[in-house]
Amino acid sequence: MGPIPEKKPNPSIKRVIGVISGKGGVGKSMVASLLAESLALRGNRVGILDADITGPSIPRMLGINAFRGESDGEHLFPVENEEGIKVISINLFNEDEDTPVIWRGPLLAKVIDQFWSDTIWGDLDYLIIDFPPGTSDVALTAFQTIPFAGLVVVATPQDYVSMIVRKSINMAGMLKTPVLGVVENMRTMVCPHCGTETALFDDGSQNGAQRMGLPLLASLPWRKELAQSRSLRWSELSEAVKKTADGLASEVELALAEAGKAATGNIATPVAASSEATPQATAPHV
Ligand SMILES: Nc1ncnc2c1ncn2[C@@H]1O[C@H](COP(=O)(O)OP(=O)(O)O)[C@@H](O)[C@H]1O
Ligand SMILES: [Mg+2]
Repeated sequence: MGPIPEKKPNPSIKRVIGVISGKGGVGKSMVASLLAESLALRGNRVGILDADITGPSIPRMLGINAFRGESDGEHLFPVENEEGIKVISINLFNEDEDTPVIWRGPLLAKVIDQFWSDTIWGDLDYLIIDFPPGTSDVALTAFQTIPFAGLVVVATPQDYVSMIVRKSINMAGMLKTPVLGVVENMRTMVCPHCGTETALFDDGSQNGAQRMGLPLLASLPWRKELAQSRSLRWSELSEAVKKTADGLASEVELALAEAGKAATGNIATPVAASSEATPQATAPHV
Protein backbone atom coordinates (compact mmCIF):
# COMPACT_ATOMS: atom_id res chain seq x y z
CA MET A 1 0.00 0.00 0.00
CA GLY A 2 1.40 3.45 -0.94
CA PRO A 3 1.16 6.58 1.19
CA ILE A 4 -2.36 7.02 2.55
CA PRO A 5 -4.08 10.07 1.03
CA GLU A 6 -5.58 12.77 3.26
CA LYS A 7 -9.20 12.30 4.29
CA LYS A 8 -11.52 14.87 2.74
CA PRO A 9 -13.92 16.25 5.35
CA ASN A 10 -17.34 17.63 4.42
CA PRO A 11 -18.48 20.05 7.15
CA SER A 12 -22.15 19.88 6.14
CA ILE A 13 -22.29 16.14 6.93
CA LYS A 14 -22.27 15.36 10.65
CA ARG A 15 -21.62 11.60 10.61
CA VAL A 16 -20.73 9.14 7.88
CA ILE A 17 -21.58 5.47 8.44
CA GLY A 18 -20.23 2.77 6.12
CA VAL A 19 -22.08 -0.52 5.65
CA ILE A 20 -19.63 -3.24 4.68
CA SER A 21 -19.51 -7.01 4.16
CA GLY A 22 -17.04 -9.65 3.09
CA LYS A 23 -19.08 -10.76 0.10
CA GLY A 24 -22.16 -9.89 -1.93
CA GLY A 25 -25.72 -10.99 -1.40
CA VAL A 26 -25.61 -10.93 2.40
CA GLY A 27 -28.13 -8.11 2.80
CA LYS A 28 -25.84 -5.08 2.94
CA SER A 29 -27.96 -2.83 0.75
CA MET A 30 -31.04 -3.91 2.62
CA VAL A 31 -29.46 -3.06 5.96
CA ALA A 32 -28.19 0.28 4.58
CA SER A 33 -31.71 1.15 3.38
CA LEU A 34 -33.44 0.06 6.60
CA LEU A 35 -30.91 1.98 8.70
CA ALA A 36 -31.35 5.12 6.59
CA GLU A 37 -35.13 4.90 6.83
CA SER A 38 -35.23 4.37 10.57
CA LEU A 39 -32.73 7.17 11.19
CA ALA A 40 -34.83 9.47 8.98
CA LEU A 41 -37.96 8.52 10.91
CA ARG A 42 -36.24 9.64 14.09
CA GLY A 43 -36.08 13.14 12.62
CA ASN A 44 -32.57 12.99 11.17
CA ARG A 45 -31.57 14.37 7.78
CA VAL A 46 -30.22 11.33 5.98
CA GLY A 47 -28.48 10.55 2.70
CA ILE A 48 -27.23 7.33 1.08
CA LEU A 49 -24.21 7.12 -1.19
CA ASP A 50 -24.49 3.90 -3.19
CA ALA A 51 -20.84 2.94 -3.57
CA ASP A 52 -21.68 -0.36 -5.24
CA ILE A 53 -21.04 0.84 -8.79
CA THR A 54 -21.32 -2.52 -10.50
CA GLY A 55 -24.30 -3.76 -8.46
CA PRO A 56 -26.23 -0.65 -7.41
CA SER A 57 -29.49 -1.54 -5.67
CA ILE A 58 -30.31 1.42 -3.42
CA PRO A 59 -32.56 3.34 -5.90
CA ARG A 60 -34.83 0.32 -6.31
CA MET A 61 -34.89 -0.46 -2.58
CA LEU A 62 -35.84 3.13 -1.76
CA GLY A 63 -38.40 3.31 -4.57
CA ILE A 64 -36.71 5.95 -6.74
CA ASN A 65 -35.43 3.82 -9.63
CA ALA A 66 -37.73 5.64 -12.07
CA PHE A 67 -36.04 8.97 -11.29
CA ARG A 68 -32.82 10.40 -12.73
CA GLY A 69 -30.11 12.35 -10.93
CA GLU A 70 -29.10 15.76 -12.20
CA SER A 71 -25.72 17.36 -12.79
CA ASP A 72 -24.64 20.86 -13.82
CA GLY A 73 -21.43 19.44 -15.25
CA GLU A 74 -19.56 20.16 -12.04
CA HIS A 75 -21.84 19.00 -9.25
CA LEU A 76 -24.20 16.09 -8.74
CA PHE A 77 -27.64 16.52 -7.20
CA PRO A 78 -29.12 13.62 -5.22
CA VAL A 79 -32.64 12.28 -5.76
CA GLU A 80 -34.91 12.38 -2.69
CA ASN A 81 -37.29 9.53 -1.89
CA GLU A 82 -40.67 9.86 -0.19
CA GLU A 83 -39.10 9.79 3.28
CA GLY A 84 -36.76 12.62 2.29
CA ILE A 85 -33.67 10.39 2.05
CA LYS A 86 -31.20 11.82 -0.46
CA VAL A 87 -29.66 9.21 -2.75
CA ILE A 88 -26.66 9.20 -5.07
CA SER A 89 -26.14 6.06 -7.14
CA ILE A 90 -24.61 5.32 -10.54
CA ASN A 91 -28.01 3.94 -11.55
CA LEU A 92 -29.53 7.41 -11.26
CA PHE A 93 -27.12 8.62 -13.94
CA ASN A 94 -27.40 5.70 -16.34
CA GLU A 95 -29.92 5.95 -19.13
CA ASP A 96 -31.80 3.04 -17.63
CA GLU A 97 -31.15 0.85 -14.62
CA ASP A 98 -30.27 -2.22 -16.68
CA THR A 99 -27.20 -0.62 -18.31
CA PRO A 100 -24.14 -2.41 -16.90
CA VAL A 101 -21.10 -0.50 -15.67
CA ILE A 102 -17.99 -2.16 -17.13
CA TRP A 103 -15.20 0.09 -15.87
CA ARG A 104 -11.96 -1.07 -14.32
CA GLY A 105 -11.04 -0.57 -10.66
CA PRO A 106 -9.29 2.85 -10.82
CA LEU A 107 -12.21 4.42 -12.72
CA LEU A 108 -14.71 2.96 -10.26
CA ALA A 109 -12.69 4.40 -7.39
CA LYS A 110 -12.76 7.81 -9.07
CA VAL A 111 -16.55 7.74 -9.19
CA ILE A 112 -16.66 7.20 -5.43
CA ASP A 113 -14.40 10.18 -4.92
CA GLN A 114 -16.72 12.23 -7.15
CA PHE A 115 -19.86 11.01 -5.39
CA TRP A 116 -18.33 12.05 -2.08
CA SER A 117 -16.69 15.33 -3.12
CA ASP A 118 -18.94 16.74 -5.86
CA THR A 119 -22.44 15.94 -4.60
CA ILE A 120 -24.52 18.78 -3.21
CA TRP A 121 -25.83 16.92 -0.18
CA GLY A 122 -26.90 19.95 1.85
CA ASP A 123 -26.85 19.57 5.64
CA LEU A 124 -27.06 15.94 6.74
CA ASP A 125 -27.06 14.32 10.16
CA TYR A 126 -26.12 10.96 8.62
CA LEU A 127 -24.69 9.85 5.32
CA ILE A 128 -24.86 6.07 4.90
CA ILE A 129 -22.40 4.54 2.46
CA ASP A 130 -23.46 1.23 0.94
CA PHE A 131 -20.14 -0.44 0.08
CA PRO A 132 -19.50 -2.94 -2.67
CA PRO A 133 -18.60 -6.37 -1.28
CA GLY A 134 -15.07 -7.16 -0.14
CA THR A 135 -11.83 -5.22 -0.27
CA SER A 136 -11.86 -3.74 -3.78
CA ASP A 137 -10.30 -0.51 -5.11
CA VAL A 138 -13.58 1.20 -4.38
CA ALA A 139 -13.59 0.10 -0.74
CA LEU A 140 -9.97 1.17 -0.34
CA THR A 141 -10.61 4.63 -1.85
CA ALA A 142 -13.65 5.10 0.36
CA PHE A 143 -11.76 4.08 3.52
CA GLN A 144 -8.90 6.40 2.58
CA THR A 145 -10.78 9.54 1.60
CA ILE A 146 -13.99 9.58 3.66
CA PRO A 147 -13.86 10.40 7.38
CA PHE A 148 -16.12 7.69 8.83
CA ALA A 149 -17.77 8.01 12.21
CA GLY A 150 -18.16 4.23 12.12
CA LEU A 151 -18.69 1.08 10.10
CA VAL A 152 -21.50 -1.47 10.32
CA VAL A 153 -20.55 -5.00 9.26
CA VAL A 154 -23.27 -7.18 7.72
CA ALA A 155 -22.68 -10.92 7.80
CA THR A 156 -24.54 -14.19 7.53
CA PRO A 157 -23.53 -17.04 9.87
CA GLN A 158 -21.62 -18.79 7.03
CA ASP A 159 -19.34 -15.75 6.74
CA TYR A 160 -17.98 -16.09 10.25
CA VAL A 161 -16.36 -19.42 9.50
CA SER A 162 -14.68 -18.04 6.39
CA MET A 163 -11.96 -15.40 6.59
CA ILE A 164 -13.67 -13.12 4.13
CA VAL A 165 -15.53 -10.87 6.53
CA ARG A 166 -12.45 -10.52 8.73
CA LYS A 167 -10.49 -9.28 5.73
CA SER A 168 -12.85 -6.29 5.45
CA ILE A 169 -12.73 -5.67 9.19
CA ASN A 170 -8.95 -5.86 9.19
CA MET A 171 -8.75 -3.44 6.27
CA ALA A 172 -10.90 -1.01 8.26
CA GLY A 173 -8.59 -1.48 11.24
CA MET A 174 -5.48 -0.86 9.19
CA LEU A 175 -6.97 2.37 7.88
CA LYS A 176 -8.07 3.44 11.38
CA THR A 177 -11.79 3.33 10.64
CA PRO A 178 -13.85 2.41 13.73
CA VAL A 179 -16.13 -0.63 13.51
CA LEU A 180 -19.39 -0.11 15.44
CA GLY A 181 -20.60 -3.69 15.31
CA VAL A 182 -22.25 -6.45 13.32
CA VAL A 183 -25.70 -6.95 11.85
CA GLU A 184 -26.28 -10.65 11.65
CA ASN A 185 -28.53 -11.59 8.76
CA MET A 186 -30.42 -14.81 8.13
CA ARG A 187 -29.25 -16.74 11.19
CA THR A 188 -32.89 -17.72 11.61
CA MET A 189 -35.92 -17.80 9.36
CA VAL A 190 -39.49 -16.85 10.13
CA CYS A 191 -41.97 -19.39 8.77
CA PRO A 192 -44.31 -17.58 6.35
CA HIS A 193 -47.19 -19.84 7.46
CA CYS A 194 -47.01 -20.10 11.25
CA GLY A 195 -44.56 -17.30 12.15
CA THR A 196 -42.22 -19.64 14.10
CA GLU A 197 -38.59 -18.55 14.11
CA THR A 198 -36.26 -21.43 13.26
CA ALA A 199 -32.45 -21.47 13.46
CA LEU A 200 -30.87 -22.12 10.06
CA PHE A 201 -27.43 -22.87 11.46
CA ASP A 202 -26.39 -24.96 14.42
CA ASP A 203 -23.28 -23.03 15.25
CA GLY A 204 -23.27 -23.07 19.02
CA SER A 205 -24.48 -20.54 21.52
CA GLN A 206 -22.20 -17.65 20.58
CA ASN A 207 -23.40 -15.42 17.81
CA GLY A 208 -20.97 -14.46 15.11
CA ALA A 209 -20.56 -10.92 16.40
CA GLN A 210 -19.33 -12.27 19.74
CA ARG A 211 -16.97 -14.60 17.92
CA MET A 212 -15.42 -11.65 16.16
CA GLY A 213 -15.19 -9.61 19.34
CA LEU A 214 -17.65 -7.01 18.07
CA PRO A 215 -21.00 -5.80 19.43
CA LEU A 216 -24.12 -7.27 17.86
CA LEU A 217 -26.19 -4.34 16.53
CA ALA A 218 -29.17 -6.33 15.21
CA SER A 219 -30.18 -9.78 14.12
CA LEU A 220 -32.40 -9.95 11.07
CA PRO A 221 -34.21 -13.22 10.35
CA TRP A 222 -34.91 -14.39 6.80
CA ARG A 223 -38.44 -13.30 5.97
CA LYS A 224 -40.45 -14.16 2.89
CA GLU A 225 -41.76 -10.61 2.64
CA LEU A 226 -38.17 -9.28 2.44
CA ALA A 227 -37.12 -11.88 -0.10
CA GLN A 228 -40.09 -11.01 -2.31
CA SER A 229 -40.33 -7.27 -1.89
CA ARG A 230 -39.26 -5.15 -4.83
CA SER A 231 -38.76 -2.09 -2.64
CA LEU A 232 -38.21 -1.48 1.06
CA ARG A 233 -40.44 1.58 1.37
CA TRP A 234 -41.15 2.11 5.06
CA SER A 235 -44.91 2.32 4.48
CA GLU A 236 -44.83 -1.22 3.00
CA LEU A 237 -42.75 -2.90 5.71
CA SER A 238 -44.23 -5.20 8.36
CA GLU A 239 -44.23 -4.09 11.99
CA ALA A 240 -41.64 -6.77 12.81
CA VAL A 241 -39.17 -5.46 10.24
CA LYS A 242 -39.78 -1.85 11.31
CA LYS A 243 -39.07 -2.84 14.91
CA THR A 244 -35.78 -4.52 13.98
CA ALA A 245 -34.76 -1.54 11.85
CA ASP A 246 -35.58 0.87 14.65
CA GLY A 247 -33.59 -1.25 17.10
CA LEU A 248 -30.66 -1.16 14.71
CA ALA A 249 -30.84 2.65 14.44
CA SER A 250 -30.87 2.97 18.20
CA GLU A 251 -27.88 0.61 18.64
CA VAL A 252 -25.97 2.51 15.96
CA GLU A 253 -26.70 5.86 17.64
CA LEU A 254 -25.56 4.43 20.99
CA ALA A 255 -22.39 2.95 19.49
CA LEU A 256 -21.59 6.28 17.82
CA ALA A 257 -22.05 8.11 21.10
CA GLU A 258 -19.63 5.64 22.72
CA ALA A 259 -17.18 6.04 19.84
CA GLY A 260 -17.42 9.81 20.29
CA LYS A 261 -16.57 9.46 23.98
CA ALA A 262 -13.47 7.40 23.25
CA ALA A 263 -10.92 10.09 22.49
CA THR A 264 -9.28 8.10 19.75
CA GLY A 265 -12.60 7.24 18.12
CA ASN A 266 -11.20 3.76 17.81
CA ILE A 267 -13.47 1.59 19.96
CA ALA A 268 -14.65 -1.83 18.95
CA THR A 269 -11.81 -2.37 16.52
CA PRO A 270 -11.38 -6.12 16.76
CA VAL A 271 -8.81 -7.07 19.34
CA ALA A 272 -7.51 -9.96 17.30
CA ALA A 273 -8.17 -11.24 13.83
CA SER A 274 -8.89 -14.74 15.03
CA SER A 275 -11.92 -16.69 16.09
CA GLU A 276 -10.49 -16.69 19.62
CA ALA A 277 -11.17 -12.94 19.92
CA THR A 278 -12.90 -12.27 23.22
CA PRO A 279 -16.18 -10.37 23.09
CA GLN A 280 -15.81 -6.71 24.10
CA ALA A 281 -19.45 -5.93 24.45
CA THR A 282 -22.74 -7.62 23.86
CA ALA A 283 -25.65 -5.66 22.53
CA PRO A 284 -29.12 -7.08 23.09
CA HIS A 285 -30.89 -8.93 20.32
CA VAL A 286 -33.54 -6.77 18.70
N1 LIG B 1 -33.36 -11.19 5.98
C1 LIG B 1 -33.69 -11.40 4.70
N2 LIG B 1 -34.85 -12.05 4.39
C2 LIG B 1 -35.18 -12.28 3.11
N3 LIG B 1 -34.45 -11.88 2.05
C3 LIG B 1 -33.30 -11.22 2.29
C4 LIG B 1 -32.86 -10.96 3.63
N4 LIG B 1 -31.68 -10.29 3.55
C5 LIG B 1 -31.40 -10.14 2.25
N5 LIG B 1 -32.38 -10.70 1.48
C6 LIG B 1 -32.44 -10.73 0.02
O1 LIG B 1 -31.18 -11.11 -0.49
C7 LIG B 1 -30.84 -10.36 -1.63
C8 LIG B 1 -29.52 -9.67 -1.44
O2 LIG B 1 -29.65 -8.60 -0.50
P1 LIG B 1 -28.82 -7.26 -0.69
O3 LIG B 1 -29.18 -6.34 0.42
O4 LIG B 1 -28.97 -6.74 -2.07
O5 LIG B 1 -27.34 -7.84 -0.48
P2 LIG B 1 -25.91 -7.15 -0.74
O6 LIG B 1 -26.10 -5.68 -0.81
O7 LIG B 1 -25.07 -7.59 0.42
O8 LIG B 1 -25.41 -7.74 -2.02
C9 LIG B 1 -31.98 -9.39 -1.87
O9 LIG B 1 -32.81 -9.86 -2.87
C10 LIG B 1 -32.69 -9.32 -0.54
O10 LIG B 1 -34.05 -9.06 -0.69
MG1 LIG C 1 -25.69 -4.35 -2.39
